[in-house]
Amino acid sequence: MASAKAFVGKVILVTGAAQGIGEAVVRYTAARGAAVSFSDVAADTLEATRQSVAAAFPAARLLARVVDTRSSESVERWVAESKQTFGRIDGCVNSAGILGPQGTVDGELTEEAWGRVIGVNLTGAFLCLKHEVRAIEDGGSIVNLSSGAGLRGIPGLAAYSASKHGLIGLTKSVASEVAPRRIRVNAVCPSLVETPMGAQVTAQSGGTLTPENLPQLFRWAVSATEVAALVAYLLADESKFLTSTSYPIDGGFAA
Ligand SMILES: NC(=O)c1ccc[n+]([C@@H]2O[C@H](COP(=O)([O-])OP(=O)(O)OC[C@H]3O[C@@H](n4cnc5c(N)ncnc54)[C@H](O)[C@@H]3O)[C@@H](O)[C@H]2O)c1
Repeated sequence: MASAKAFVGKVILVTGAAQGIGEAVVRYTAARGAAVSFSDVAADTLEATRQSVAAAFPAARLLARVVDTRSSESVERWVAESKQTFGRIDGCVNSAGILGPQGTVDGELTEEAWGRVIGVNLTGAFLCLKHEVRAIEDGGSIVNLSSGAGLRGIPGLAAYSASKHGLIGLTKSVASEVAPRRIRVNAVCPSLVETPMGAQVTAQSGGTLTPENLPQLFRWAVSATEVAALVAYLLADESKFLTSTSYPIDGGFAA
């Protein structure tokens, strides 16, 4: 795991950081010395998180901006401002995502819902990667939040699962493109995480998608901080030979 000073002198960008895994990554890396630029489309939640993180880490250099990752212009402006403010970018974490509604392809999964989920989870990640790759230092590291649903199909969540499978393809392809600059691009694939989205998964599945019902060895949800620790390891120099991979963090789903 990333050491206590792993991110001293490093600048980390995090999308979807007002809550959940993104927020946990902000806290984890700020606690280990990073300057952190974090963004989210939800302005009020982002401001509350900014205040809370600033109070918890008074010495940390922080920048919080409202950014909709579906907007290339909005992402480009944020990445440029982050680099101007902190002088460099060493790592980026693309955590912004939505679940979309529960519904089958021949039923409630509408074209509109399909477009919305792919738009945030896949096209949004593409736009972030476009601007991050241009701005990040050679030798930097990018981590995309895919999902266990990016490694297997989930009935009733076809758009979400397709978007997360697509994100793995995007991760591998971009990793190949940027390898000559020693930039690394990896994905992480959690099963249910204790976040607002994790609660939404269980609620809208009518209680069928719970840690107890999933075929994993550990029948509980992983915490956002544990996922942040894996993300931080992939960001840190100690993982500098790892690229183009997708890491399950799922309590033994594959067993
Ligand atoms: N929670 C889980 O069980 C779980 C499991 C596997 C993967 N993931 C993935 O991890 C990532 C983070 O999940 P989470 O549990 O923290 O979710 P969350 O819903 O708790 O937080 C996601 C954040 O992304 C923001 N966001 C949504 N659309 C955005 C947009 N267009 N632009 C900018 N920000 C936007 C939301 O406002 C929210 O603050 C997501 O990509 C999710 O798909 C989550």
